[in-house]
Amino acid sequence: MKILVTGGAGYIGSHTCVELLNAGYDVVVVDNLYNASVKSLDRVQQITGKSLTFYNADITDAEAMNAVFEKEQDVACVIHFAGLKAVGESVAKPLEYYRNNITGTLVLCEAMRSHGVKNIIFSSSATVYGDPAFVPITEQCPKGTPTNPYGWTKHMIEQMLTDLHTADKDWNVILLRYFNPIGAHKSGLIGEDPKGIPNNLLPYVAQVAIGKLPCLGIFGDDYDTPDGTGVRDYIHVVDLALGHVAAINRIKENPGVKVYNLGTGKGYSVLDVVKAFGKACGREVPYRIMPRRPGDIATYYSDATLAKEELGWEAQYGIEEMCEDSWRWQSSNPDGYETK
Ligand code: NAD
Ligand code: UFG
Repeated sequence: MKILVTGGAGYIGSHTCVELLNAGYDVVVVDNLYNASVKSLDRVQQITGKSLTFYNADITDAEAMNAVFEKEQDVACVIHFAGLKAVGESVAKPLEYYRNNITGTLVLCEAMRSHGVKNIIFSSSATVYGDPAFVPITEQCPKGTPTNPYGWTKHMIEQMLTDLHTADKDWNVILLRYFNPIGAHKSGLIGEDPKGIPNNLLPYVAQVAIGKLPCLGIFGDDYDTPDGTGVRDYIHVVDLALGHVAAINRIKENPGVKVYNLGTGKGYSVLDVVKAFGKACGREVPYRIMPRRPGDIATYYSDATLAKEELGWEAQYGIEEMCEDSWRWQSSNPDGYETK
């Protein structure tokens, strides 16, 4: 069975390609390499010993997308990762974010429709809950008001895909709301490779640990949490990837529109993460307390029961393995895919 993966050369996409190939699927990747290296796909093939098909194409390019579907006649399902994802950058460049994420998804869906492909699994985010009405967050938690254009693109794309099913019941849509993906494949061959100074906690901590950055700034220690620092639901990227394989099994049953949280159901504070990373890398990670980051929420973690019940999926890895695997990737590839 053939699966088309947009954004498959990226962080979560590459890990998902590994698990799809391991599960016996044929994999076709469409990526414009805006935020990825084609080396990640070489490594995916090295890890699995299997090959995949790669198109260097932009999902906003209708001609290119139609050409891909012409060539790949029997795509059973699309997993749609391609998108821009930096929250701060989206505030500075809203048009770029709306064009890439919204127009990209529209063009992709039009090309799918023209070629009779009507199964899509979408990378959404826990960001759609905004400041959540309750924690742990179930899928019943109402969507909140996004505070940035990135969040709005996820919010709007969820609505667009839902409307598509309302208009044509042949469409099946699975919206996966990820919590905080971290970690890397056990092989140390693929992992997160952010360009420039990282925005997210884990890549920042990893770059401090390897000596590329001097010190971690912790954004606030006066939240109403056990140690005062922000609490998140970190999930190992391999668990997340396996969640997509489980979602394919579900979409084969023609479920209509379904929403699942992909998280562990456990919250860890920034200081918990710093401690676990220090243990993984064998040295203390220097940090200092900084003011709160605007827009941050104190506590945010999932109730992942629905995914367990309906997808038969549950996260397996804990924070220690997430940090160990992140460190293996970072220490063996200090400059990411550019490492000689
Ligand atoms: P990533 O940047 O590593 O992967 C995205 C991939 O999409 C990249 O390889 C990029 O080159 C590609 N891409 C972007 N625009 C494209 C376009 N127009 N045409 C073709 N390819 C394009 O990011 P990631 O962390 O792997 O995230 C994957 C998806 O998951 C994104 O949609 C992101 O918003 C979502 N998500 C990520 C997180 C997270 O914390 N990493 C959390 C929630 C949701
Ligand atoms: N943090 C620091 N210092 C840093 C970076 C982060 O203290 O240098 C703290 C934050 O204040 C927060 C925690 O670490 O308490 C996690 O921050 P991240 O930036 O790693 O992650 P967020 O939870 O803020 O946001 C992430 C993604 C969003 C997504 C959201 C919900 O970046 O795109 O998870 O899934 F919407």
